[in-house]
Amino acid sequence: MLKLGLIGYPIQHSLSPWIHEQLMAQQNVKGSYELFEIQPENFNQKIKSLKNSRLDGFNVTVPYKEKIIPYLDEIDESARALGAVNTVKRKEDQWIGYNTDGLGFVDSLIHRYPESTKYGNKALILGSGGAARGIYHALADTSLQRVDLANRTIERAEEIIQDRPVTIQSNALDLHQASERMVDYDLIIQTTTVGMSPDTNVVVPIKDLKEGAVVCDIVYRPIETEFLKTAQKHGASLHFGHEMLLQQAVYAFKIWTQTKPEAEPLLSKFEEKLKGV
Ligand code: ATR
Repeated sequence: MLKLGLIGYPIQHSLSPWIHEQLMAQQNVKGSYELFEIQPENFNQKIKSLKNSRLDGFNVTVPYKEKIIPYLDEIDESARALGAVNTVKRKEDQWIGYNTDGLGFVDSLIHRYPESTKYGNKALILGSGGAARGIYHALADTSLQRVDLANRTIERAEEIIQDRPVTIQSNALDLHQASERMVDYDLIIQTTTVGMSPDTNVVVPIKDLKEGAVVCDIVYRPIETEFLKTAQKHGASLHFGHEMLLQQAVYAFKIWTQTKPEAEPLLSKFEEKLKGV
């Protein structure tokens, strides 16, 4: 019996137990996925007791993706470069940390739009929080010619670019500049919390888009955000946040089980689940 779980706060509405139960069923793996909601003041004590428990692996979410690092025995290179861990696997008595956030995004994107990261293409990331950083690192590893970052607080975009793990052409923009220059990009990724239900705003207005542009939003509640609706009106091809979420979970599941689960067969069931929540 595999024992898996999630640590974070607050996490009562997490979709992870549902997703991992589906993946266990798909792969014929017997096990459980439990929520460990840890209050910030109890973090040290709870993590120590989890380390002594028989947990085989767990996901880490807000606000503990950085705080977990001192408790790990090993950390994979890409998680170290990001300074954040979202997946932990137990190997004998050791905890090993990984980060599947950015890879999950790029994988789901390339699966849907194989040409979107091809050589010569330019990408724009809107937002400069933890999610943007993970996606930036993963995109920097593709063939893209440049990856720019735009943020309300431009200093946070500059910081991500300064810390970049590999050389890639990048500029930091403010949101006004982003709105004016959107037509230059082949790929646009919305990573801010703007547009998350019940909010129906867009982080920047879309005035014009390049022909053939792919526009993504990592917000998955609602599945079709205002930002994506406007992008579609301007002729964009859309990529949705819930596909990325599913792919991140698939990556974590692979790390824990060495099986090869597939996101695609779960997609329509996941959409129904999201619409019902
Ligand atoms: P996460 O780790 O999920 O990416 P985060 O670190 O809190 O979350 O980052 C949230 C992102 O949404 C940031 O880019 C934030 O912009 P700032 O860095 O300027 O705070 C952006 N964001 C949140 N609310 C916003 C708003 N009303 N308008 C524009 N950007 C907003």
